[in-house]
Amino acid sequence: MSPKDKINIAIDGYSASGKSTLAKLLANKLGYTYIDSGAMYRAVTLFALERGIIKEGNIYKPSLLEILPQLNIEFKKESKNYAETFLNEINVEKKIRTLEIAKYVSPISAIKEVREKLVSLQQSMGEKKGVVMDGRDIGSTVFPDAELKFFMISDIDVRVERRHQELTQRGDKISKTEVKENLRKRDYIDSNREESPLIQVEDAIVIDNSEVEMDELLIKLGKIAEDKITYLNQKVS
Ligand code: CDP
Repeated sequence: MSPKDKINIAIDGYSASGKSTLAKLLANKLGYTYIDSGAMYRAVTLFALERGIIKEGNIYKPSLLEILPQLNIEFKKESKNYAETFLNEINVEKKIRTLEIAKYVSPISAIKEVREKLVSLQQSMGEKKGVVMDGRDIGSTVFPDAELKFFMISDIDVRVERRHQELTQRGDKISKTEVKENLRKRDYIDSNREESPLIQVEDAIVIDNSEVEMDELLIKLGKIAEDKITYLNQKVS
């Protein structure tokens, strides 16, 4: 490692635990690239819905596998000052954040072939390091060698409140009960699936953001990251 070398940072945790907000801020602070792996699973779900592969609540896996090679996901900066999600060249950032997508994303994410495709894409995005990626299996499967790993937890009611606010601000008419049910279901499927379930890896630092303000957390994580980068660079120089 040379003094200018960068590291990869993995942030895993439960649904709506505040991972993406924190990951985005941390990446900005360090001058790193933020990658929202959940957005990629959401984009696959949108793709499946738009192609009629999810009908009346059923996912037609063989049809999805057939068209999976036609799917391309990228992150690009367009009109905003942050990167947005593009599905086959179309900006889908807004479309992937609905409750409709959230309803199907966990069963879609449990499909082995979907995971293989996205994990390989995510690994190539992190090849040059300098990436902060959030998700469910980043520290365990995508970047098992990440120099720094965080596992975020947050009280269920805080998570419901946060997600409900986000969705209503976007114009979705939805009750807190529906949000809670969706978060619970997703947490269950994500934690119990066969393919790289959500787990807290041994070398992850646990961060509870139920009561702590985001600013405070950012200072804490930024310090941990900067210390780690300095330590690793000193070790090799
Ligand atoms: O924002 P929120 O925490 O609600 O979820 P997300 O990060 O957008 O992820 C949406 C869904 O994608 C999760 O519930 C998982 O089913 C799946 N996912 C996954 O399986 N692996 C990842 N690395 C990231 C997301």
